[in-house]
Amino acid sequence: ARIRHYKWEIKYEYRSPDCYKKLVITINGRTPGPTIFAQQNDTVIVEVKNNLLTENTAIHWHGIRQIGTPWFDGTEGVTQCPVLPGDTFVYKFVVDRPGTYLYHAHYGMQREAGLYGSIRVALPDGKSEPFAYDYDRSIILNDWYHKSTYEQAAGLSSIDFQWVDEPQSLLIHGKGRLNCSTANSPLKAGVCNNTNPECSLYSMTVVPGKTYRLRISSLTALSALSFQIEGHNMSVVEADGHYVEPFVVKNLFIYSGETYSVLVKTDRDPSRNYWATTNVVSRNSTTPPGLAIFNYYPNHPRRSPPTIPPSGPLWNDVDSRFNQSLAIKARKGHMHSPPATSDRVIVLLNTQNVVNGTRRWSVNDVSFNLPHTPYLIALKENLLHTFSQTPPPEGYDFVNYNISVKQEDSNGTTSDAIYRLQFNSTVDIILQNANSMVSDVSETHPWHLHGHDFWVLGYGRGKFDRINDPKKYNLVDPIMKNTVPVHPYGWTALRFKADNPGVWAFHCHIESHFFMGMRVAFEEGIERVGKLPSSIMGCGETKHFRKP
Ligand code: C2O
Ligand code: CU
Repeated sequence: ARIRHYKWEIKYEYRSPDCYKKLVITINGRTPGPTIFAQQNDTVIVEVKNNLLTENTAIHWHGIRQIGTPWFDGTEGVTQCPVLPGDTFVYKFVVDRPGTYLYHAHYGMQREAGLYGSIRVALPDGKSEPFAYDYDRSIILNDWYHKSTYEQAAGLSSIDFQWVDEPQSLLIHGKGRLNCSTANSPLKAGVCNNTNPECSLYSMTVVPGKTYRLRISSLTALSALSFQIEGHNMSVVEADGHYVEPFVVKNLFIYSGETYSVLVKTDRDPSRNYWATTNVVSRNSTTPPGLAIFNYYPNHPRRSPPTIPPSGPLWNDVDSRFNQSLAIKARKGHMHSPPATSDRVIVLLNTQNVVNGTRRWSVNDVSFNLPHTPYLIALKENLLHTFSQTPPPEGYDFVNYNISVKQEDSNGTTSDAIYRLQFNSTVDIILQNANSMVSDVSETHPWHLHGHDFWVLGYGRGKFDRINDPKKYNLVDPIMKNTVPVHPYGWTALRFKADNPGVWAFHCHIESHFFMGMRVAFEEGIERVGKLPSSIMGCGETKHFRKP
């Protein structure tokens, strides 16, 4: 195993990813940031210099379990204090499994300012994947707002609530193309400029007659997406770092925080280019589709395909999305069986609430607040007075709560309490969706677990039946993932082993939902956590632990 050493400078710069000029966060001048390339069991060292001038930061390595290094998970308030402007923070962790992963800011709503990228972990030399391909490429999908994350965060947390609304564009690998003449965002002269050479569509050049492995990931702030390549089928072979029993799709549904590998054959008419597009599903969105060019060599990479870009499925076609979720199974010969039973079942009802006059997202009517002292440090150093010791609820009123209608009483509370799990126990999480505070609306929430992969035991519609639904769990070939959607008015059942000492966030990966409190945290095996590095200290009651 090798050491992969990266030095990153993080700063704000003016960029026009979709022709609209705004301040974005770059890593070494780029957004998306540089891809981290490593092999299984390598050690990755990233020296992050925070040059944001007036903003803190922290970077999370999404999908990397941080076994033995829970303090480098990069989750501000949970595993570390924020990195102050001018400071350099060194992350050091082992990438112990091959696959496609991500990294992104985990501070406030900073991720959607552009601080994100991908991690590609290859197999060790001499080992090969259970599928064949000629070339390996990554594409990150995103949505894009023109307002700053500060404006958005302030709007979401004020009494005079300002929802972030639909994003202005969809980016494919950091690029989009807003039509400045029709854009409905305020167009000050020079701010939106279609002739800016920086704003061109992303073009992926492919050689005809080959098989491509495309690693497709999503770090959208809000949108659930469908991704498609005109005229080409995709065979899904990997999800969140685990091999999938292959299945073929025309549209790949992908939720924020998920990664997939698909195999694509470049076997179409090679005399032209094709469109690759994204479009918003699950919300009746005003956001125009994202466009990129699938460029068959040697056609010019900028040459527009002669056709109309394919439109994806209807935004409210929930059946197709359920069906894709159900189709994802572990690949034969690569299954890891889950424990047959669990020790504890935690039901998380996804609710939207009003707390002290502000709108929040919650579980079981409790919206999450981050304490000033990160949990990992508070627990390890026995500072239990720094957060509430009243355990958060493990369920809701199963008998009387009607998940299909808007509640008459939307009042909720906030808490900074966490779930403490028995080390090595098996835990089931039931994500139960419900109607939001708007009649006839139930949103899609992609939930992401830090520090673990979980088995996806099942999806269902309506209210989860605690007696009968567990009998239908897939215990034979469930996929393991780190991010999973709960579909509108549906439920999703997960199982994981609490075998990674540390404190781990579990949250909706929609940036505004997360910011509005749609998260929880799990502690397990804190007594087994090694000595904390002093670099994670400095905030709340941890100041005196920081060595000068
Ligand atoms: Cu990718 Cu806690 O997030
Ligand atoms: Cu959500």
